[in-house]
Amino acid sequence: MIYLTGDLHGDFQRLSPKQFREQETLSKEDILLACGDFGGVWYGDERDDEKLDWLESRPFTTAFVTGNHENYDALQTYPLEQWRGGAIRRIRPSVILLERGQVFNLCGKRFLTMGGASSHDIQDGILEPDDPLFRLKQRTLDAREAMYRVNHLSWWKEELPSEEEYQTARDSLDRAGWEVDYIITHCCPSSVQDVFSGGLFQRDKLTDFLEEVRQRCRFQTWFFGHYHADMDIDEQFKMLYEKIVKLDI
Ligand SMILES: [Fe+2]
Repeated sequence: MIYLTGDLHGDFQRLSPKQFREQETLSKEDILLACGDFGGVWYGDERDDEKLDWLESRPFTTAFVTGNHENYDALQTYPLEQWRGGAIRRIRPSVILLERGQVFNLCGKRFLTMGGASSHDIQDGILEPDDPLFRLKQRTLDAREAMYRVNHLSWWKEELPSEEEYQTARDSLDRAGWEVDYIITHCCPSSVQDVFSGGLFQRDKLTDFLEEVRQRCRFQTWFFGHYHADMDIDEQFKMLYEKIVKLDI
C-alpha cells in the first residue's frame, strides 16, 4: 500500500498510531510518501536522531522528496544508492530520500520524483553567517519581525534543482517514454500554481520545468505539497498538506 501526505516540517505527530491508525495493519513493504519539507534531517547531528529513530520504529517505510525547508548540507552526507529503479539516500533503513528526476517502480506503478521549491518566506533576505555585520543585521531584522533566513542554517540554495538534476529528469522521462503513473513533487507546474494562487506565487525555473512535464508527460495523478493546504485542484492535481491519503492502486 502507498499513502501520501504533505509537508511535515520535522513534526511527525501526524504519523503517530493515534492519528494514522491504518498503520496497525501495515508492514515495511508499505510506503508513506511525503511531498517535501520533510524536515527530519534538520540539524545534521544527533539532535535529529530521536525523531528519525522513532520514524524507523514505525511499521511502514517513510519516503520523501525534498522541499525548500530541508538541510541540504546534511542530506548530502548520506550516500547515494539505487532502490526500486531510482537513486535514493538512505537516512535510516526504512527512511528514504527519493532523489530528483528519478522514476521509481513502486507496487508495479511508475513514480516520477522531483523535489524542491522556492522559499516564500525570505522576502527580507538571506543572511550570511560569516558576514562581520551578521549580529547587527539579525537584530535589526528581528526587531521588525522580518522574513529572512540564514544561509546554511535555515536556507540552502539547493532548494531549487541544479542543471544536472533537470537533465537527469529529462533523461529518466526519455527512458520512460514520457509516461508515468504518478508524479510526486513539492511545488507544482506554473499554470497549476496560477489557478489556485491568483498570481501570489511567482513562477520560477522549477515551476516552469514542471509545466513542461505537465504538457509533455502522460500521467494519472500528480501529488504536491508546499502550499500548506489540502486541495484537489482538478482530477489530476492534488495539493496535500496535513491529510494522509491512500493511493488507489
Ligand atoms: Fe512547507
